[in-house]
Amino acid sequence: MTSQTPDSTRSPDAPRRRLFVTTALPYANGAFHIGHMMEYIQADIWVRLQRMLGNEVHFVCADDAHGAPIMIAAEKARKTPQQFVADIAAGRGAYLDGFLIRFDNWHSTDAPENHQLAQDIYRALRKAGLIYARTIEQFYDPVKGMFLPDRYIKGHCPKCDAADQYGDSCEVCGAVYGPTELRQPYSVLSGAAPELRSSEHYFFQLSSPRCAEFLRDWTHGSGAHGLPRLQPEVLNKVREWFGVDEAGRGGLADWDISRDAPYFGIEVPDAPGKYFYVWLDAPIGYLASLKNHFDKGQAAAHWHEASRTTQSFEEFLADPAVEQVHFIGKDIVYFHTLFWPATLHFSGRKTPSQINVHGHVTVGGEKMSKSRGTGISPLRYLDLKLDPEWLRYYLAAKLTARVDDLDFGADDFVARVNSDLIGKYVNIASRASRFITQHFDGRLGYAGATDALREAAQALGDDVRAALEGREYARAMREIMAYADRINAAFDAAQPWVLAKDDARRAELQDACSRALAGFWTLSVLLAPVLPATASRVARELFGLPRDFVWSDCAELPERVAAYRHLLQRVDPKRVEQLLEPPAAAAPAPAQAAGIGIDDFSRVDLRVARIHDAQAVEGSTKLLRLTLDLAEHDAHGQPRLRNVFSGIAAAYDPASLVGRLTVVVANLAPRKMKFGVSEGMVLAASGDGDAAGIFLLAPDSGARPGMRVS
Ligand code: 2FM
Ligand code: ZN
Repeated sequence: MTSQTPDSTRSPDAPRRRLFVTTALPYANGAFHIGHMMEYIQADIWVRLQRMLGNEVHFVCADDAHGAPIMIAAEKARKTPQQFVADIAAGRGAYLDGFLIRFDNWHSTDAPENHQLAQDIYRALRKAGLIYARTIEQFYDPVKGMFLPDRYIKGHCPKCDAADQYGDSCEVCGAVYGPTELRQPYSVLSGAAPELRSSEHYFFQLSSPRCAEFLRDWTHGSGAHGLPRLQPEVLNKVREWFGVDEAGRGGLADWDISRDAPYFGIEVPDAPGKYFYVWLDAPIGYLASLKNHFDKGQAAAHWHEASRTTQSFEEFLADPAVEQVHFIGKDIVYFHTLFWPATLHFSGRKTPSQINVHGHVTVGGEKMSKSRGTGISPLRYLDLKLDPEWLRYYLAAKLTARVDDLDFGADDFVARVNSDLIGKYVNIASRASRFITQHFDGRLGYAGATDALREAAQALGDDVRAALEGREYARAMREIMAYADRINAAFDAAQPWVLAKDDARRAELQDACSRALAGFWTLSVLLAPVLPATASRVARELFGLPRDFVWSDCAELPERVAAYRHLLQRVDPKRVEQLLEPPAAAAPAPAQAAGIGIDDFSRVDLRVARIHDAQAVEGSTKLLRLTLDLAEHDAHGQPRLRNVFSGIAAAYDPASLVGRLTVVVANLAPRKMKFGVSEGMVLAASGDGDAAGIFLLAPDSGARPGMRVS
């Protein structure tokens, strides 16, 4: 795998590499899952290696704040989108600190730097003649008053007529189509029938010959140090996207980069009411976060000495030696290998040196699914007091430079951690240091030449470095553990417990233990990118260094050792089981009355209703007047709406309810009230104490007015 390793023969005084490293920016509408943690850990290991080598690294990320789903989620949470994403951002630190992931900066794509950069880049693309406007027809939700992204339109599949299929493809027959081809389409947001309306959109002319030519060269070319920019299997995929058939069909299509208001995003310059599509400004967020990092002076006052720079963001990026390295998942390759380099290149900027693509995490061989309660919650992992370094090691032991998925298996996890980290690695220190502190007052001593020992350590260090550099972490961990096996075998063969009983063999005892501890030192240096906390303790507490390890420590020989203090615990399989248990189901409510039969229940006619209108009721602080659509008709076949008074005024702004779906008791006898007749009752949950409030019930997306609830 030397092809994946830059400068493997680089002399120690070769110039430091200057690296700008990112992970994909997570959408700001949910907590992290294990897949996020895997990517961050993969990148963090790589970054820590670079820092230990003395290279300059700026490792940044940000929340990906924009787009329709976040706007809609914020509305549901009754927050402004800004407040919504800020609340999500506030929760990020617990995960990152918890798993020892050390970004230099965490920012947001909604930050001013990103607005500025995205607009500048757009203007440059326009100047380059690559932007044009075209009117397109798109579905519009007349109730929500917005154009609908494809994912928010459902209907019957045009091929097989299956109901409730999304606007892009059918989950039943696999057909792929456009949203306008759906039969009986409806808006997932309001249930309304969407209308086709036309609107002017802005396009990035990716199909232009100069774009195609640039991208062909760029994707096939090499970045820094002659390394390929893309992994071979990623390049194959990209080739398919370039592919043009005999009839000239295929190739790259132009990219629709604008969306109409209302949209949470960045305004398109000189185009009122138009916003950048989230995927235009998201990767620009990499640059925005880097700029913010430099502007805050963090790069000048850096936690890692080698990464200190007094340059500005602009000066840093203008240095041709700076390498831009992105870690991403396989689902967003298109954006990063085509749109992103083209955006950068044609706006006159540096393009990425490497796009490192990983696969997805599966758990017990299955794709993670929230609804089935599969998957691993990173916070639960930490709450259960599972050690973050166990997960870091386990992932490292399985990660390769390929795009394959990685499976988390509970038994595998326990076995790997206990046998490797405890049985092979930590074991060396706990056994050997005891003799040295008891018999030699902590002094190490080597009998005879130590050249071979140092050479072996150096050779291992070079191999492990090359493997980590090329993201062949599994290979690196195998080599490290093979070395640990050799150290343990030599230690056992020397039988120090026998030597310790014979005063005449003190030198032999000291030598055997010192060589084992020198091996432990080397292993700790090489494991430091994966186990930063343990390695730091080994350096400082066990070997008394005034600092953490750097890579060149690898072939040094330690001279003293302190009394061994516990380093890493074994994994208790029970706690891993707990981690994988589905979240506890809500406790059943205490019985309020003797049980009713299903017949009793089915006498209640529950229906889905769309709130057509909602008004405050004059003279009442409790009630709202709701006009509900249950898809009913009167005797003349005319649509009929119902009037229902509901005691939810304290919890809801009437305007926010219009268009929403809810559940109504449809066969409640009409009731005459002070303000008028109420023809039904909407269902809401309510609670006390810190759960106080009223929460209107809503059916899952796809439900439509008039549907029976049972
Ligand atoms: O797929 C995602 O989660 C996106 N939020 C990734 C964006 S990466 C970059 F382009 F910002
Ligand atoms: Zn179908």
